[in-house]
Amino acid sequence: MDAVVVYESMYGNSERVARAVAQGLGERVRVLVLDVDDAAAAPDVLPEADLLVAGGPTHAFGMTRPATRADAVQRATGDVSRRTRGLREWVESMPRTADARLAATFDTRVTKVKPLPGSAARGAAKVLRRAGYRLLTAPASFYVGDVEGPLDEGELERARTWGRALADALVPATVPPRV
Ligand SMILES: Cc1cc2nc3c(=O)[nH]c(=O)nc-3n(C[C@H](O)[C@H](O)[C@H](O)COP(=O)(O)O)c2cc1C
Repeated sequence: MDAVVVYESMYGNSERVARAVAQGLGERVRVLVLDVDDAAAAPDVLPEADLLVAGGPTHAFGMTRPATRADAVQRATGDVSRRTRGLREWVESMPRTADARLAATFDTRVTKVKPLPGSAARGAAKVLRRAGYRLLTAPASFYVGDVEGPLDEGELERARTWGRALADALVPATVPPRV
């Protein structure tokens, strides 16, 4: 039983969430964590996995785009990713899967605009469903205090708990029923 967690992160918050989700999953299944560039460079890894978890920051109510990533670089006061590939480009390049593979998506968003619609996790879920994936659970959002973070208190623990719940749902979802 294997899971792969693929993330995009401009300021590191989504990466921290990805690693916490992987910790939770890792209590029951084997997990590999990859950023989108490494995932794109290792196309053989995914078909082997029972579950794909994909996540990244919400930009302009959805997944990042080249222009929003450039904006994020301009706003940065500390470390920032300068990669040209985002979660959107990666999920949109995924080949269609014929065997209803399992997926789950997450994003990070700013707490103060919580009531606003639009989330990268929902956008990624839509693309993955179109590619033939079956969602194991509803898209999840984790919250940061401001654009560069930090994550709100308790969010990493919530991410670990979400990862544990994914593993709990994954085991029965992949074991064929006994007849
Ligand atoms: C250009 C830009 C647009 C953003 N748009 C949104 C938005 O629509 N909704 C929201 O909740 N947060 C928005 N944010 C805040 C990001 O969600 C936040 O920077 C991100 O969750 C931090 O994660 P990261 O450290 O993994 O990049 C935006 C940030 C940037 C830089």
